[in-house]
Amino acid sequence: MRTNTTLVINSKGGSGKTTLATNLASCFATRGVSTAIMDYDPQGSSLNWLRLRSVAGPRIHAANAAPAKAGRIRSVDMHVPANTRQLLVDAPAGASGVLLQEMLARADAILIPVPPSSIDIHATANFVRDLLILGRVRTRSIRLAVVANRVRSAMPVYQPLERFLGSLGLPLLARIRDSEVYLRAAETGVGIYEMDPAEAAAELEEFAPIADWVDPQRDSAAANVFDLPRARRIDRAGPVSITGSNSLGGKP
Ligand SMILES: Nc1ncnc2c1ncn2[C@@H]1O[C@H](COP(=O)(O)OP(=O)(O)OP(=O)(O)O)[C@@H](O)[C@H]1O
Ligand SMILES: [Mg+2]
Repeated sequence: MRTNTTLVINSKGGSGKTTLATNLASCFATRGVSTAIMDYDPQGSSLNWLRLRSVAGPRIHAANAAPAKAGRIRSVDMHVPANTRQLLVDAPAGASGVLLQEMLARADAILIPVPPSSIDIHATANFVRDLLILGRVRTRSIRLAVVANRVRSAMPVYQPLERFLGSLGLPLLARIRDSEVYLRAAETGVGIYEMDPAEAAAELEEFAPIADWVDPQRDSAAANVFDLPRARRIDRAGPVSITGSNSLGGKP
């Protein structure tokens, strides 16, 4: 079986990339699946989380893909064991150019966490458009989905984003609540799948559709996530507007 590679990315900093990558890794490792995280971020947040982990916990391989510093051989640090089944790639904020293309070249699927502010939502819509046009995500058959993160209540702020994604045949896969459980997990080197299920029950429930989508073998419906006949084309270079009734900005 080959490695299934999921790129967790958003141009926006602090959107929840590391939170998604580490908790998905925790999910698969807990299921006994051979799992690795590849951290492209020079901040190394995922690698720090891996260092905090107890040796008794399910093992997750660490690969460092951040730009090489003196004394490091990047290709060695980036090595992922051949038996890895689930690889989570944690992208840095603002990735572009060669680094972005390198990450896209590895990806079978892309997950984009988006925080609930309208500025972030607009920036994310533009980022999705860039991935579709410049990243040629569809031509490369890379699956793509968006996850709302740090949701505090039934927030209508996501409705324009949902309309925009719907017009492209892309799913808003899940809504992750703003929860101390994620903070505690990040600080202690565990994922929600390794916590007392009673303590993280709500978080486990909201993560389930994400894990199912990432692992297509457990959810065959995920393969149909692009509804190409219904999806509208994005072929303009201008910024995306997701307000108003025309989710692509009112131009034909
Ligand atoms: N759903 C959530 N509930 C509570 N805290 C969260 C949630 N998602 C993320 N956080 C916290 O918000 C901060 C930023 O999240 P995270 O590190 O996952 O974002 P990021 O996109 O990886 O950031 P960066 O761009 O700096 O790499 C972290 O302290 C994290 O623990
Ligand atoms: Mg991060």
